[in-house]
Amino acid sequence: MSIKNYSRTNPYLSRIKERGLLTGLSSTKKTYHIALEIENGQFPFKVGDSVGILPQNDPEEVEAILRKLGCFGAETIFDSRENAAMLVRDFLLHKANISRVHSPFFKLLKGQDPLLFPENKAKLAEFLHTHTLLNLLEKHPLNDLSHLTKLMPLLPRFYSIANSAHVFPDEIHLTVSYVTYTTNGQVRKGIGSYFLCAYAQESVTPIPIYLQPSNYFTLPADPAASMILVGPGTGIAPYRAFLQERLALNASGRNWLFFGERNRASDFYYETFLTQLESQGRLRLDLAFSRDGPEKIYVQHKMYEERKSLWAWLQEGAFFYVCGDAEEMAKDVDAMLHRIVGEEGSMTEEETRHYIKQLRADKRYLTDVY
Ligand SMILES: Cc1cc2nc3c(=O)[nH]c(=O)nc-3n(C[C@H](O)[C@H](O)[C@H](O)COP(=O)(O)OP(=O)(O)OC[C@H]3O[C@@H](n4cnc5c(N)ncnc54)[C@H](O)[C@@H]3O)c2cc1C
Ligand SMILES: NC(=O)c1ccc[n+]([C@@H]2O[C@H](COP(=O)([O-])OP(=O)(O)OC[C@H]3O[C@@H](n4cnc5c(N)ncnc54)[C@H](OP(=O)(O)O)[C@@H]3O)[C@@H](O)[C@H]2O)c1
Repeated sequence: MSIKNYSRTNPYLSRIKERGLLTGLSSTKKTYHIALEIENGQFPFKVGDSVGILPQNDPEEVEAILRKLGCFGAETIFDSRENAAMLVRDFLLHKANISRVHSPFFKLLKGQDPLLFPENKAKLAEFLHTHTLLNLLEKHPLNDLSHLTKLMPLLPRFYSIANSAHVFPDEIHLTVSYVTYTTNGQVRKGIGSYFLCAYAQESVTPIPIYLQPSNYFTLPADPAASMILVGPGTGIAPYRAFLQERLALNASGRNWLFFGERNRASDFYYETFLTQLESQGRLRLDLAFSRDGPEKIYVQHKMYEERKSLWAWLQEGAFFYVCGDAEEMAKDVDAMLHRIVGEEGSMTEEETRHYIKQLRADKRYLTDVY
């Protein structure tokens, strides 16, 4: 049987085999472990890869939009990106970004309603950041359905693969944080995480996926190489895969994980797996639960506490990985790495920068951040 090349335009249709909360009932967030089923061998992947998923919009929101537009959804429009005619309902469910409207679309609306606020560029950006298509249609009409095709496209969402094919060959595991936030007094749900964590029914809803291979963010080729893994929050996902695979292949290299979340009692993802590895001497584990004490403790603080050992591991050739939040965490971890190298290696700023640049060039400092 030949293996197809699945892609964004030709995705593999998977289904959820199992979905469970990783966070406890007392947690302030919801993070899910999701196992997708794949036919054995039909969706080859390696540890460190991610999957792209093509989510669909919340059908209730789409129905509300159709009501505002005064249409049934069975009308057709021509989608020039797909070069095909589509039912309006399908277009809104699968193709359009209905949670954010960009200024070209706003200008179309404004063309129909000159009183539409705002003119000023900064105010406009803020306005568009906090208004969905439905919010806008509630106050301003859209007279021409074909204008919907000017909405931004609904883009795929990516999730790190959290299992090794050596251990679960016919499954893809994901660690998904269910994104919710409030704007304009309204609770909003992240499109991809809502689709995976709440909307999709186990064994029923097709989940279109394709592989997003990683270039270097994978296990070291040498099974004896040491790894330092920094991954707070959902950044843990690829490391679960790394560790599963190293165990399955009986790799001798040392493994050191820095994991962090909000509260130990409710947010210690994969606790049994990780603590068992630790007690078997297969994993060195440092934990940073940020909201358990009076002061925030983050993974980089734990790195600093362990700076002598961390420096020794680096000098002995360890690979250094960072996965998770790009906005703050990855930058702060990078700054801490610089500080540790500078202090422990007694280096000037320039020597430190050179050392870390070389780590990157040697593909021993690898990041997968988002
Ligand atoms: C390579 C890669 C791997 C990834 N791996 C994982 C993973 O393993 N697990 C995981 O959970 N995620 C992962 N992500 C992130 C994931 O792809 C999605 O970005 C994430 O799930 C959010 O998507 P969403 O569709 O649910 O939210 P969206 O619908 O995209 O909404 C998120 C957006 O909402 C807005 N927003 C969020 N909070 C607020 C707020 N407080 N106020 C105003 N606006 C706000 C922001 O504009 C934000 O960009 C990964 C990303 C990449 C690129
Ligand atoms: N808006 C939402 O509802 C929502 C939900 C989930 C994820 N997200 C986004 O998705 C991405 C990943 O989220 P995630 O669920 O994996 O977890 P996360 O939000 O990255 O948090 C994981 C842990 O990292 C801590 N942290 C915060 N800032 C840090 C920093 N500068 N350095 C080191 N650690 C830091 C957090 O602490 P504290 O939180 O206690 O500061 C928490 O203990 C982030 O970009 C996040 O913003 C948003």
